[in-house]
Amino acid sequence: MKSVYLYIFGIALLASLVIGDSTPRPTVMWHGMGDTCCYPFSMGRIKKLIENEIPGIYVNSIEIGDSIADDEFNSFFKNVNEQVDMVCKQMKADPQLSNGFNAIGFSQGGQFLRAYVERCNDPPVFNLVSVGGQHQGVFGFPNCEVTPGHNVSLCNMVRELLNYGVYTDMVQSHLVQAEYWQDPMKYDEYLEKSQFLADINNARSVKNETYKLNFQSLNQLALVLFTQDTMVIPRESEWFGFYQPNTLDIIPMEKTDLYVEDWIGLQYLDQNNRITKLSCDGNHLQFTDDWFIENLIPFLNNTVY
Ligand SMILES: *[C@@H]1O[C@H](CO)[C@@H](O)[C@H](O)[C@H]1NC(C)=O
Ligand SMILES: *[C@@H]1O[C@H](CO)[C@@H](O)[C@H](O)[C@H]1NC(C)=O
Ligand SMILES: *[C@@H]1O[C@H](CO)[C@@H](O)[C@H](O)[C@H]1NC(C)=O
Repeated sequence: MKSVYLYIFGIALLASLVIGDSTPRPTVMWHGMGDTCCYPFSMGRIKKLIENEIPGIYVNSIEIGDSIADDEFNSFFKNVNEQVDMVCKQMKADPQLSNGFNAIGFSQGGQFLRAYVERCNDPPVFNLVSVGGQHQGVFGFPNCEVTPGHNVSLCNMVRELLNYGVYTDMVQSHLVQAEYWQDPMKYDEYLEKSQFLADINNARSVKNETYKLNFQSLNQLALVLFTQDTMVIPRESEWFGFYQPNTLDIIPMEKTDLYVEDWIGLQYLDQNNRITKLSCDGNHLQFTDDWFIENLIPFLNNTVY
């Protein structure tokens, strides 16, 4: 009797592997600065769009804090390393993510999700999509009015703090934008003081091999650059390009030391055809639903068994 059951069980297992008793792989979203998990005009809209396009999918839109107001405030002022720690715990605690997920980050959410991959990746990310993320940081803080509903007084506070001293400990510990500020003319100071970006980019002389191993494990890295972006300076940062240290000459990803010396596994991913660079003709995060469906849904539309 027992062996019959075992036999039936074996057949069932085999069938489910062959036929594929599949469910859509979940998606995790991380919003940008001055945004929240759930504003109906931004992340709420995108979440609905994904749910409509991929029936049955589970989408988790990250919220940092206990309310929408906290979430927005934290996007400017909560230490990024602490935010990433929180997200590592949140992802691990979500039973619906236990088999891994695709991740899509908007603006700074792009590099924050990369930090999740490098530092934790448990559960693991399959495809990582970065929409206007600043992977080499920024050097400039232009205008505040990106999306309607933006709190301009928060933006003005950011500007004043950047002015005060981007690489002071106080500003580094509390101002999100400062934590991915890369001043090419003060490259050594950046290396020494940057609490977030220089770390996740493995830019210092001691490299963290775990960061590289985790990042290299991605199936696909999709990087969206907005060709008319006036928010992110320089916009090439969205494709891992940046100013060459101690100059204001912009070099593409392939010429940066990060790539050439393969500090985080970017070159490895590229050589294995696992990087897709996409450009979107618009200002920062200005894309249409149709553009999103055509270009980004394919990275989110896959299954787990
Ligand atoms: C998602 O993938 C499935 C299976 O490959 C395909 O049939 C479906 O058309 C895709 N949906 C979208 C919106 O791309
Ligand atoms: C490297 O990163 C991992 C994952 O975040 C961490 O556990 C480890 O302590 C880091 N190693 C070093 C040498 O900093
Ligand atoms: C904007 O942020 C400031 C500082 O936190 C707060 O005092 C103000 O109420 C906020 N304004 C709006 C419209 O949310």
